[in-house]
Amino acid sequence: MSIDNRDKQGRKIDYLRISITDRCNLRCCYCMPKGIELLEMSDILSFEEIESIVRAFAKEGITRLKITGGEPLVRLGCEELTARLKATAGIEDITITTNGVLLEDKLEALKAAGVSGINISLDTLDREKYKRITGFDKLNKVLSAVDAAIASGINTKINTAVMKGINTDEIPELARLARDKNVCVRFIEMMPIGYGTQFKYADNSEVLSLLKREYPGLKPDCERHGNGPAVYYRAEDFKGSIGFISAVSGKFCESCNRMRLTSTGVLKYCLCFEDGKDLRKILRDKSLSEELKEERLRESFREALSKKPVEHCFEDRDRISETKEMFRIGG
Ligand code: 5AD
Ligand code: SF4
Repeated sequence: MSIDNRDKQGRKIDYLRISITDRCNLRCCYCMPKGIELLEMSDILSFEEIESIVRAFAKEGITRLKITGGEPLVRLGCEELTARLKATAGIEDITITTNGVLLEDKLEALKAAGVSGINISLDTLDREKYKRITGFDKLNKVLSAVDAAIASGINTKINTAVMKGINTDEIPELARLARDKNVCVRFIEMMPIGYGTQFKYADNSEVLSLLKREYPGLKPDCERHGNGPAVYYRAEDFKGSIGFISAVSGKFCESCNRMRLTSTGVLKYCLCFEDGKDLRKILRDKSLSEELKEERLRESFREALSKKPVEHCFEDRDRISETKEMFRIGG
């Protein structure tokens, strides 16, 4: 019998983004500025709890996972967890989003774990600006991790969150990485979630026009690149490609395929709204047997399918009900 993982809109939901920690070794101004309160470790799901959720959801049609944070690589044993999740029956693909600071040392283990894609966050190529945006002098470490990831043969992407007046001037230079290296550079419109509200997003259509002036050969690239809503472009002399995630100006909700699991175990239906189901409560309910827990988790997934909103409302800030910061939700 085939699994029905379609939501009320008929969208197939087969992709789960899992935040495994709210901690991070950087302090990006739009995500987790200095002085933030972190959660207690006991509030965060244990690896066993995450595995139970993935086992149950795989039976409801989840086939692809993304490991996120905070910064996932700061959680001890992240590589082992990744390997175990990848080995779960029904899970076909696992990828990870990281700031790249700890990546180089962990690449081998991640590759062995079966990670098929790595997204590295990089908003600037200027050392001083990197320090201003992230709070740390780690640009060279991240650039070297980008090269190592490409060399490892794992599909590598760079995520650039574009902030008007802060890194818009570097767009052509960041795009050049896609010309010269086998990497996909993706420009993400800053979403009005958490501290992101304090920054002006740059419309991706402007970013594309600017890039077309710089690289006139750019053409849409229809090849499938990943799980997400990005639209891709490349030119003939490009080793990699350029992607656009128009989270604000372009509504890609029609083709949404995902749910999110926060580090505290809330199953979130949409980034924009705070609604979600507390799965930790089920997992820590001592009165439930393992079988019943699994049944409750599977029910929660089906409930989520019925509750998933039609679309986000980033254009109407008053209706955004999510008040948590990105590092708590998972980027
Ligand atoms: N809007 C868009 N992207 C964001 N990220 C964090 N906060 C936001 C936001 N408000 C991105 C980071 C990183 C990824 C994990 O999420 O730049 O690449
Ligand atoms: Fe850390 Fe990523 Fe947030 Fe920056 S954007 S503080 S690297 S979780």
